[in-house]
Amino acid sequence: MRTPLIAGNFKMFKTAAETAAYVVELRELLKDVRGVDVVIAPPFTALHAAAGAAAGSAIGVGAQNVHWERDGAFTGEVSAGMIRETGARFVIVGHSERRTLFGETNATVNKKMNAVIAAGLTPIVCIGETLEQRDRNETLAVLDRQIKEGLDGATGEQLAAMVLAYEPVWAIGTGRNATPAQAGEAHFHIRQRLKQWFGLESSERCRVLYGGSVKPGNIASLAAQPDVDGALVGGASLDPKSFLAIIRGAVV
Ligand code: 13P
Repeated sequence: MRTPLIAGNFKMFKTAAETAAYVVELRELLKDVRGVDVVIAPPFTALHAAAGAAAGSAIGVGAQNVHWERDGAFTGEVSAGMIRETGARFVIVGHSERRTLFGETNATVNKKMNAVIAAGLTPIVCIGETLEQRDRNETLAVLDRQIKEGLDGATGEQLAAMVLAYEPVWAIGTGRNATPAQAGEAHFHIRQRLKQWFGLESSERCRVLYGGSVKPGNIASLAAQPDVDGALVGGASLDPKSFLAIIRGAVV
């Protein structure tokens, strides 16, 4: 059985001090919570403070982006080794905001995934269709391409240890979440493809999160879908109490 994972993507919110205070509060709130893994992904500048505040707790810390080279003349970029040094253990790769606003492609996602794995960190690779693609009935084909090209070259063992996040772009920050049936259909398809391309055992171990307007009120019905292994939460992760409600709601 896969342990559910709830990851909070802070996007460009919270300073280092605000993040540390958040972690202190979340630690306290999570004291009696079992059966679910928790990760927060604050901005780069808050990673070190977050990891320090989370030390000795079960809260994992992740970055929201990474560059694929170890070092070099890449102004403004941060490598996986630098992220690891902060104490973070996860890296979100290929978020739709990175794809649409910053030109990321399946090819760059693939390079980043490899760099994250090479540094001994866990990638959280994001996939998902736009509204136009859904309306044209291209959802499953888009997911296939994102998986095939984005995860190209990964071994079954690597796939088993990584996290995928299905985030339909039309559901992100819009208040319009996918229905449990829509999420269930996409997640079932993703699992089938993982099975086909990486083998049964690896596909059964890989966690696939749902993301897009997850709230305390809709997490339970989404997490009840057999192939949904938790959530990647944006806006509703910024308040520790609403994040806690989502974490509790994911334990089925
Ligand atoms: P919202 O939960 O704010 O819709 O954001 C989802 C997301 O993009 C998480 O990565």
